[in-house]
Amino acid sequence: MADRILVVDDEPNIRKVLVATLRREGYEVEAAENGADALAALEREGADVVVTDLVMPGVDGLTLLRRLSHEHADIPVIVITAHGTVDTAVGALKAGAFDFITKPFETDELRAVIAKAARQADLNRANVVPAAEPERRYREIVGQGARMLELQTVIARVADAPSTVLITGESGTGKELVAIALHEKSSRAARPFIRINCAAIPRELMEAELFGYEKGAFTGAVNSKPGRFELADGGTLFLDEIGEVPLEMQVKLLRALQESEFERVGGLKTIRVDVRLIAATSRDIPKEIAAGKFREDLFYRLNVVPILLPPLRERREDIPLLAEHFREKYNKRLGKSVRRIEDDALLALCNYGWPGNIRELENIMERTLLFSDGPVIALRDLPAPLLEKTPSATTGTIVVPSASGSLKEVVRAQTQALEKDLIARALTLTRGNVTRAAKLLKISRKSMQIKMKEFGLREEEPPSGNS
Ligand SMILES: Nc1ncnc2c1ncn2[C@@H]1O[C@H](COP(=O)(O)OP(=O)(O)OP(=O)(O)O)[C@@H](O)[C@H]1O
Ligand SMILES: [Mg+2]
Repeated sequence: MADRILVVDDEPNIRKVLVATLRREGYEVEAAENGADALAALEREGADVVVTDLVMPGVDGLTLLRRLSHEHADIPVIVITAHGTVDTAVGALKAGAFDFITKPFETDELRAVIAKAARQADLNRANVVPAAEPERRYREIVGQGARMLELQTVIARVADAPSTVLITGESGTGKELVAIALHEKSSRAARPFIRINCAAIPRELMEAELFGYEKGAFTGAVNSKPGRFELADGGTLFLDEIGEVPLEMQVKLLRALQESEFERVGGLKTIRVDVRLIAATSRDIPKEIAAGKFREDLFYRLNVVPILLPPLRERREDIPLLAEHFREKYNKRLGKSVRRIEDDALLALCNYGWPGNIRELENIMERTLLFSDGPVIALRDLPAPLLEKTPSATTGTIVVPSASGSLKEVVRAQTQALEKDLIARALTLTRGNVTRAAKLLKISRKSMQIKMKEFGLREEEPPSGNS
């Protein structure tokens, strides 16, 4: 299926040229004269990519961009700026634009930028990435477990250092959130935070993207254009999915980092910038090094401050807090008034494996709230996969019978460990309320107390983490 592009410009001639050019490229193209028209067109038939002028009567390009990054965060928006207005371009990128093209534009440049955006739109659809997180109050990093507290300490300590940070973690563990937090807690906060998703950029465009290019550097380079390094000057450059950078670009990147200078493609002038670099990857970089796919020297240069984000299944103690956080967030967003998550539903959330980590938890909470009418979320309101897993299947460590004991003994020890674990979790969930915990486990309060005594779990306080 062809990608649908929505072109927004108040100048009829530019509109005509854009529409004709893009149709020739095989896109399905729709045009609008101003922001209000564009929003209406999007409501009606949607679009995969939006290309918009900035200066327009009524709802202008920047306002449109802001609305889109709230309401349609998965649609890449390309902004048309006048030649030489770097500040406007940076402003647009900060407001959530995917990229910008400068007027007058040449077909090749337009083609390349649109192709890149269409590819990002495909990626967005494939990952079912939820709306990006524009509201600041929901950008807070939630978690009270030991590993999250440690993370907060690291963030506070290194936010303002110039050192490069390499954030590693499975998909959906909060890498981007941490990168943003590092920027916002630094003295660079008022300067640009420029993100570049290395996985979404075709390899032949990567150098121009990072370092910019001069007029005439290649066919289509009618104007010179600053790269992301220049745009991030004084601020932070976030290289997302760094593991996807091809080897030959890794060399150039390393040089730029080591010498803090570079040249635009086709340029002779050496450019120096003051940029704080943060990189993120979901790949196992040492393994990539062993396979010859990642340069060891670049890894050491990036890995000055390593931050490893644990998968959600390894910090289940944060699940209740996160679930509450998303309950509030989507109550507001969706205009719901869900006041509580029932204990058994919370237990199911805590026991699930979360292969998609926090992003998956967030999606599930959003969906559950969307479909709920009442004031509480009960177990039956959760989607099927969460109900299937039995707790025992997810508690982890299964001991294999060994010299240490017979099968019977091992089974007994395992059962006991499981029992203790479940009781401790039920107590955590109910914040130490023995009656509610007993009800959750479907045992009497009396047997609950006996078990607690047996396992040395005290009644007064919740046993761990979860404040
Ligand atoms: N500790 C946290 N507290 C609150 N929200 C979080 C936390 N960690 C992640 N999130 C939310 O989960 C979602 C995914 O986070 P983010 O995009 O930062 O993950 P990621 O590691 O970059 O994922 P990917 O590898 O898929 O790009 C975001 O909506 C983010 O706001
Ligand atoms: Mg990410």
